[in-house]
Amino acid sequence: MPLTGMGHVLGIESSCDEMAAAVVAGGREICSSVVASQVEVHEPYGGVVPELASRDHVRVVSGVVEGALRQAGLGLNDLDGIAVTAGPGLVGSLLVGLSFAKALAYRSGLPWVAVHHLAGHLVAAEVGDPELSPPYIGLVVSGGHTALYRVTGEAAPDLLGETRDDAVGEAFDKVAKLLGLGFPGGPAVSKAAEDGDPEGVDFPRPMAKRSGLDFSYSGLKTAVALEVQRRGGLEAMDPQAVSDVAASFQAAAVDSLLARTRRAVEREGLDQVAVVGGVAANRRLREKMKSMGARRGFQAIFPPADLCTDNAVMIAAAGARALAQGERDGWAVSAFSRVPVGDTPWRPPQDSEAVRGT
Ligand code: KG4
Ligand code: ZN
Repeated sequence: MPLTGMGHVLGIESSCDEMAAAVVAGGREICSSVVASQVEVHEPYGGVVPELASRDHVRVVSGVVEGALRQAGLGLNDLDGIAVTAGPGLVGSLLVGLSFAKALAYRSGLPWVAVHHLAGHLVAAEVGDPELSPPYIGLVVSGGHTALYRVTGEAAPDLLGETRDDAVGEAFDKVAKLLGLGFPGGPAVSKAAEDGDPEGVDFPRPMAKRSGLDFSYSGLKTAVALEVQRRGGLEAMDPQAVSDVAASFQAAAVDSLLARTRRAVEREGLDQVAVVGGVAANRRLREKMKSMGARRGFQAIFPPADLCTDNAVMIAAAGARALAQGERDGWAVSAFSRVPVGDTPWRPPQDSEAVRGT
């Protein structure tokens, strides 16, 4: 059922190495979705090169947006609003999508809103499952973020806990590099892990003995590096050994997400958990979280994989909700690279360290 007060909204997302555009109707019906990935651009470097990412975004942005409108069978005049990611992310990348969205809004006179990237990831779960409605626990697991929220339905969800160092997706990417598995790392580690023994190496479960809801992944990444060293380096490891280390790392990373989520569910007394962000595409996490939910009396909701990784459907959906609540942004809004620790400026800060003049 469409949500009332939300017409057709165009979403644009360019916070990292994907340029994406989508049209969503009624806040959750997907009319179109186009994602231009840059895997080939960054593959030779084993990670995202910010300068190359923004240059490629400039090259493809108009084609991607036109593609999303064409796929939806709509023109600019048929839209009711525009939503665009303003941060957090790579500022050079963000500015491409943001400037393009502003230009479209200027030309068409349409209302537009800047969207927080994580607000988008969280809403993806509501797009994927119409039964899901606040309040619920939101676990965001991506390349840049690992955080637990109480999603209240208000503009800003409550932050319950977050990583103190690396994000879990970042740990997958770094371990992929250590194990020579290539880029992007998450899917590569998870594929190698399929043939490995998750109990082959007894890696530490990060933060297992600490109370609270924070995460930490840099120690686990170091433990994997030491294990590779202990085995005489990557050259001395056969494919089975690589798979065993990958599977054992994945088991430890997933276990720590499960333990924190379980604690959050108990503390907040909620019975729905939405797991979103690129790492939510991980098969072991999906299976283990669902079975823990079945045992402990909560429902674990995962968006389909293409709504987990970066996309513009989630930005259009989050923007539709903001627009329906009467929110509008002005030309002064700019890109911002990070959220202050322990804080969640759901509306992009307009007078902070943000880059100005776009
Ligand atoms: O949400 P996302 O597309 O971009 C960010 O906002 O960061 O997440 C990308 C992250 C990367 O670190 C990638 O390695 C990880 O999600 N990822 C996975 C899987 N698919 C993507 N990690 C583990 N298993 C996967 N199947
Ligand atoms: Zn993301």
